Amino acid sequence: MSFMKENPAARTISSTQSEMTEIILPNDTNTLGNLLGGRLMHFIDLTGAMAAYRHSRTNVVTAAMDHIDFIRPVHLGDLVTLRSSVNRAFSTSMDVGVKVWAERTRTGEVVHVASAYLVFVAIDDQGHRVRVPAALPETADELRRFEGAMRRREHRDAEAARRKQAKIESDAQEES
Ligand SMILES: CC(C)(COP(=O)(O)OP(=O)(O)OC[C@H]1O[C@@H](n2cnc3c(N)ncnc32)[C@H](O)[C@@H]1OP(=O)(O)O)[C@@H](O)C(=O)NCCC(=O)NCCS
Repeated sequence: MSFMKENPAARTISSTQSEMTEIILPNDTNTLGNLLGGRLMHFIDLTGAMAAYRHSRTNVVTAAMDHIDFIRPVHLGDLVTLRSSVNRAFSTSMDVGVKVWAERTRTGEVVHVASAYLVFVAIDDQGHRVRVPAALPETADELRRFEGAMRRREHRDAEAARRKQAKIESDAQEES
């Protein structure tokens, strides 16, 4: 696995911060006039990828949408703003957080509508995984998210091991 020579050994988390704003149009909504969950997930994926791309400066693929909370509905005509940053970089993967707000355009009220955590993996132009720089937290909030990313990774690894063991046991039962 290579490390891109153009990349520094580390980048600050603040240098990965990304933002996108969309106006919600009829094609984005369900029969109640609210933003479709899948459409919001698409916006989250794109905004998350921007932060991962700024960190790795190479191609990235979504490995997992680790967690998503839809807190309040987004309405037709709302302005949706998504902000993302890399929380932590591992070897070739990056934990990215995305937070979403809706601005009710008639009143100017801004509400937090969703939050998500995703994992992106850096890939070179030949399709091989590449090492990414370390991500440096500089503020107390960044440090809190940096530590949260490690807990999510440990939880994911434990869950993957549990599923693997369950499959071994169920295969063994089927064979007997
Ligand atoms: C993501 C992908 C590149 C991982 O490749 P892989 O050969 O399985 O790699 P490994 O299992 O060795 O893991 C590589 C890294 O990805 C991480 N990873 C792999 N699967 C993961 C998952 N489901 N969730 C979180 N992280 C994951 C590993 O933790 C590891 O991170 P590290 O290098 O920082 O330690 C591969 O599964 C892939 O190409 N998936 C399809 C991606 C895609 O098309 N996305 C769009 C979907 S619509």
